[in-house]
Amino acid sequence: MAGLKSNQMLAAVYEQSGDAATVLSIRSISRPEVGAGQVRVKLAFSGLNPTDVKIRSGRTPRQIDIFQIPHMDGAGTIDAVGPGVDMTRIGQRVWVLLAAHDSKWGTAAQWAVVNQDRAIGLPDEVSFELAATLGVPAVTAANCLLGDGPIAGKDVLVAGGAGAVGGCAVQMARWQGARVAASVSGEVKSEMARQAGADLVVNYREPNAIEQLQMWSSKIAHIVELNLGANLELDLGVCVPGTSIVTYAADGDDPVLPIRRLMTAGVSIRFMMLYTLPAPVLAAAVEVVSAALIAKALRLPKVQVFELADIVAAHKAQEAGPLGRILVAIS
Ligand SMILES: NC(=O)c1ccc[n+]([C@@H]2O[C@H](COP(=O)([O-])OP(=O)(O)OC[C@H]3O[C@@H](n4cnc5c(N)ncnc54)[C@H](OP(=O)(O)O)[C@@H]3O)[C@@H](O)[C@H]2O)c1
Repeated sequence: MAGLKSNQMLAAVYEQSGDAATVLSIRSISRPEVGAGQVRVKLAFSGLNPTDVKIRSGRTPRQIDIFQIPHMDGAGTIDAVGPGVDMTRIGQRVWVLLAAHDSKWGTAAQWAVVNQDRAIGLPDEVSFELAATLGVPAVTAANCLLGDGPIAGKDVLVAGGAGAVGGCAVQMARWQGARVAASVSGEVKSEMARQAGADLVVNYREPNAIEQLQMWSSKIAHIVELNLGANLELDLGVCVPGTSIVTYAADGDDPVLPIRRLMTAGVSIRFMMLYTLPAPVLAAAVEVVSAALIAKALRLPKVQVFELADIVAAHKAQEAGPLGRILVAIS
């Protein structure tokens, strides 16, 4: 901070997509000013997700308008509001979502500006660390769990129950009154899914995963899926007529869908993308996350914290597929 002019801030910046070490740098740039309907957030933590490194690397192509500050998610305090925003929001502690989605002002910086509905008030007792882990994963999990109808009293399967989205989905499914099974690989992730609240955890790489799930439930109503290609046989093996499958990731090869078997099984499949959710649907998912926070249904996952100066290392840690979440502390 020493030597920074009052209207300047430190930010992680890239001007073109590519390898983290090549394109990312920390710079002093002009602090963003708020426009109509916007708030400015003084950030405490920035949260990384796979989408941030996919966009920075160019795997998910995006136009860059001169420069881009990465990261969708963060947490901090509103210190300025634009025309049309309630002045009493100044000083409010917030979690931030989708900051870098259609804007250059991502959260890997001392300040970010976002539309007022992308900075959501936090209950006093929720830490900025937990708040910075919410955004993409928690909102995705909320929509994937509840976007096909209520799950109270139902049996739900969450694939990748130790992942960022999966961990939120397991916790929120329990809070919503569902019985939850999770699939993971390995013992450490199994324990993570259990701690998130899964009633049953199976290793999707073991040949008897389907049998374990069938013994647990003969009426799995909903499946939150992240690799439909790899898990299609497992999903078909445990579904019943009426089961809904929602899939939110496109990692791995695209499957050839066995349409006759899917029709006979009587399942429905929905494809979910946070960036293209209609505004009221997105708002409903955000409300679910806020309600989960008030109910203390979401806990801080295992986190690894990097300083802003170590942004390249933070991106590399995210790309390596972390056990838990990567945060950047903004001092
Ligand atoms: N559509 C959207 O709007 C949206 C929103 C959020 C995230 N995403 C995408 O969803 C994916 C996951 O995101 P994330 O942040 O949750 O990542 P993450 O924290 O890395 O979690 C992914 C988890 O899935 C597990 N996994 C991998 N293959 C699996 C399989 N076949 N069955 C069950 N589990 C499996 C991984 O562990 P193992 O490899 O050890 O099994 C890992 O624990 C990313 O591709 C991300 O870009 C999409």
